[in-house]
Amino acid sequence: MAKKKVLNVAIDGPGGAGKSTVAKAAAKELGLIYVDTGALYRAVGVNALRNKIDTKDEHKIKKMLKSTVVELRYIDGVQHVFLNDEDVSAEIRTPDASMAASNVSAIQIVRDFLFDTQRDIAKKNNCIMDGRDIATVVLPDAQVKIFLTASAEVRAQRRFLELQEKGSDETYEKVLADLIERDYQDSHREIAPLKPAEDSIIVDTSEMPLEESISTVVNLIKEKM
Ligand code: DC
Repeated sequence: MAKKKVLNVAIDGPGGAGKSTVAKAAAKELGLIYVDTGALYRAVGVNALRNKIDTKDEHKIKKMLKSTVVELRYIDGVQHVFLNDEDVSAEIRTPDASMAASNVSAIQIVRDFLFDTQRDIAKKNNCIMDGRDIATVVLPDAQVKIFLTASAEVRAQRRFLELQEKGSDETYEKVLADLIERDYQDSHREIAPLKPAEDSIIVDTSEMPLEESISTVVNLIKEKM
């Protein structure tokens, strides 16, 4: 009997473009698993911060990885990220963890370390995976490739509101400056830089209400289902 092919959807884009909100909602509507790969890089970054290791020090990070286990587990259909068996899903969401994740993600050995985890999930599950290099590196054969983006100001405003809801006192200006720095770093690194694949569909959500971003993505996926 022929093996049924799984459906893989790749969503890439800069921070704050709404990837996770849109991908999560689309996955729910279509009955797919949602995989947030940024959480893996964030867990590695948090481990470095906890151990007071410079997140740009390749040699020390390499050594740290020998005693690092990062896993994704699904609890009631929701993704949780575990660092050495501890659920760090909340801790990885701080601004410090964002920058640490961006720093460690530029190191090849970190990308290699997390590669199989991402590939294994996609091999076994119909899923929407979001990140920076999903369409270009992790799942080049994904049936749907979307590059979700928005202007830096719109993205910073969304992130700012999110942080405020969590009680953070970060200013809009600081959020915007961090976002621009992280975008630059993510898209100018030598390995697996943030960029659309040649066959990615670009969706700019700057002027779109959330519902429209979701329905646009859902419709693009439905065309391939
Ligand atoms: O999606 P996010 O903001 O949670 O990702 C955090 C950082 O991890 C991001 O700045 C770059 C890195 N990352 C990556 O290099 N490749 C991915 N597939 C996902 C995230």
